[in-house]
Amino acid sequence: MARPVRPRRSELATPASNDHMFAKAAGAGADLVFLDLEDACAPAEREAARGKAARALRELDWGRTTRAIRMNGVDTRWAHGDLIEVVTAAREALQVIIVPKVRGARDVWWVDVLLTQLEETLGLPRKGVRLEVLIEETEGLENVGEIARASDRLEALIFGAGDFSASQGARVDTNFDPVVDYPGDLWHYARSRVVVAARSAGIDAIDAPFPNYLTPDAYRTACDRAAAMGYVGKWAIHPSQVEIANTAFAPTPAEIAHARRVVAAYREAEAGGRGATRLDGMLVDAAHLRHAATVAATADLLGIGENSEETP
Ligand code: GLV
Ligand code: MG
Repeated sequence: MARPVRPRRSELATPASNDHMFAKAAGAGADLVFLDLEDACAPAEREAARGKAARALRELDWGRTTRAIRMNGVDTRWAHGDLIEVVTAAREALQVIIVPKVRGARDVWWVDVLLTQLEETLGLPRKGVRLEVLIEETEGLENVGEIARASDRLEALIFGAGDFSASQGARVDTNFDPVVDYPGDLWHYARSRVVVAARSAGIDAIDAPFPNYLTPDAYRTACDRAAAMGYVGKWAIHPSQVEIANTAFAPTPAEIAHARRVVAAYREAEAGGRGATRLDGMLVDAAHLRHAATVAATADLLGIGENSEETP
């Protein structure tokens, strides 16, 4: 099965135990919603929440939103039950499973193998259930290259700053920012390593949750910085963050129009036997064409900028 490519500008978290929140989440306009069986769900609620999640995945109107769950980690007693019960009850209504606290490729293989057995038993399309994994353990970051290639179900790596800061022993506040005036960005190394591993494996990188939802400007800045690094989206822990992420991770009409002009200028140069040309007083060569192609592909994926003739 060809790897589906789906928008992931915003990935909205909703506790799977709180069914009164499901309808709002489904209509929030997020590219992906995940019903969380892990840390947002009290341990005593986790088993009962599986059925609630499956019912919501099947019965609510999700529109264009990708329907996902976050299972419990493979080293917990809930992991196999999460997979078996939710896949059996939700069937094709479940599109993506987020696997938390992945430490090595073996964790992804375990999920992949169990899913393959379930798909066969239930008569579901082979490899129809897709995966995203959280890189939020120091061991996971050490092994991120092999994790990113561990399964052809994998579509994205997510940087999980919350657990990662705990795993690293970092001294941070509740928004995972350093408690002292740290020179530079405490998370630059981890974020870079995750996006490089994801891109080199041909999958997406998604940025971390931002718990302080009462500071939308700071959330927007965090989105912009992640987008600058190559992340295609960010978690939203509150519906109010969804629109901000959707805007921040989409190319602007001016960027799309500029990308089109770069492609046109390069093609014209190419037709004339040249590998480089000039646009607005700047050099345009094959590297610029790659940038432009990425912008155009994102615009196509999001269905935006079709007929825009704007110039930057
Ligand atoms: C997400 O799960 C995180 O720990 O940041
Ligand atoms: Mg976590």
